[in-house]
Amino acid sequence: KVLILDFGSQYTQLIARRVRELNIYSEIVPFNKIPENIDDYKAVILSGSPMSVRSKDAFHPDLKSIRGKKPMLAVCYGAQYLAHFSGGEVAESNTREYGRANLSFVEDDAFLKGISSGSQVWMSHSDTIKSLPENGKLLASTHDVKNAAYKIEGETTYAIQFHPEVYHSTDGKQLLSNFLIDISNVNPDWTPNAFVGETVEALKNKIGNDKVVLGLSGGVDSSVAAMLLHKAIGENLYCIFVNNGLLRKNEFTDVLEQYKGMGLNVKGVDASARFLDALAGKSDPEEKRKAIGRVFIEVFDDEAHEIENVTYLAQGTIYPDVIESVSATGGPSATIKSHHNVGGLPDFMKLKIVEPLKLLFKDEVRRVGASMGMDKQLLGRHPFPGPGLAIRILGDITPEKVRILQEVDAVFINGLKDAGLYDKVWQAGAILLPVNSVGVMGDERTYEKCVALRAVESTDGMTADWVNLPYEFLQKTSNDIINKVKGVNRVVYDISSKPPATIEWE
Ligand code: XMP
Repeated sequence: KVLILDFGSQYTQLIARRVRELNIYSEIVPFNKIPENIDDYKAVILSGSPMSVRSKDAFHPDLKSIRGKKPMLAVCYGAQYLAHFSGGEVAESNTREYGRANLSFVEDDAFLKGISSGSQVWMSHSDTIKSLPENGKLLASTHDVKNAAYKIEGETTYAIQFHPEVYHSTDGKQLLSNFLIDISNVNPDWTPNAFVGETVEALKNKIGNDKVVLGLSGGVDSSVAAMLLHKAIGENLYCIFVNNGLLRKNEFTDVLEQYKGMGLNVKGVDASARFLDALAGKSDPEEKRKAIGRVFIEVFDDEAHEIENVTYLAQGTIYPDVIESVSATGGPSATIKSHHNVGGLPDFMKLKIVEPLKLLFKDEVRRVGASMGMDKQLLGRHPFPGPGLAIRILGDITPEKVRILQEVDAVFINGLKDAGLYDKVWQAGAILLPVNSVGVMGDERTYEKCVALRAVESTDGMTADWVNLPYEFLQKTSNDIINKVKGVNRVVYDISSKPPATIEWE
């Protein structure tokens, strides 16, 4: 495996991703938490950083366990770090160097194999390396950046000013492959199958004959986590699937059936009434979220108590969730939201935690699921927010509003599937607006609800754009909704991007 030392760059996760795309397993660790078992890693990559090496607070880890002992690739801040602290010179750039540049080679080196001169690379830095460190040998330059790539003679150490991990560095993946596979001799044997085998073994060893409880949501992550645990510990995995009354139409029964078909030991708990009670009269989005979070914890805690001698709580946490809670300087921080602490922690939160997907990205989770033979439709499901339709019914929530929105949503989502559009969309749903509008149906005046449809493309939900759905599709969907769903007489399509809007309306 490969170690990525994180200096806080916004691209660090992308490095991990590119490395895994080469079928090589990698782990990100904050720069000040260098693992003691460094021998377990075959190569080390230093990330970029928002920090300047010239700053008095510059991140300055002791690399003595790595430098010259392990093959090392230093990216951006990493490259400047090596220069600045080992006899070279780093200064502020005359111009800030961002975006596109083209490489020209100074030296023929295995590091640059398969990459042609002129190859586009992406820069993002405001300091520049004026002179190379001791034993530094220049490999490549760009028009504005003389020291764009160098190596250290006598070591397997390479450094680059540009970012090989971003999509716009055309040969970035080739470069990483040259460094990891050719130069560092890392075996590209990390496949979803290998992951399943290793993880199941590790889970068996860790859990033994203990019992594990897991909350299923119907989503991809919790379902794949459940399958891995099921393979490892079988009947000792107890799954709980809570119906909060805010799921999609028929979702609770359909998904429950599907889980049973997968051989999982699942208890479906219909707590709709408890959730709707707690939501009654609430119209502020954050209050609604809090009420739902609180009731979920109560319900889950009650159910977990029904299982005797349970010792573990399993979660479908994936890599982006982990990284967001690890800061470059501080390391892992476990902040439990304030409302979870009211009246002390619920008992299930005192359980030991097991997170089998903690090191995977979403697309890797899907590949792992597919390699275990899980249903394509389950793996391809759009993300769906925990608070469900509660944050798509603007304002207060009533059972009648939930019914209307479930119907509208079903027409829209089934329409996307029938038209072959579902997989082209990252997330889609309907929003019930707190607006009545006048219409006319069969010579009669109507005064009914308006719904908005939303479909977005995205990779991670952080930024998103609306999807250009065909007019014919929108036309048919609008007709179907108004004809089939009693209480709705107007349909609009949301054409806002995120930012400045968000995906959900609340
Ligand atoms: P926004 O609306 O912030 O949504 O652009 C980004 C992604 O997060 C989902 N989302 C939530 N998921 N609890 C969740 O589990 C929430 O309270 C919540 N709010 C938004 C949203 O569906 C989208 O995928």
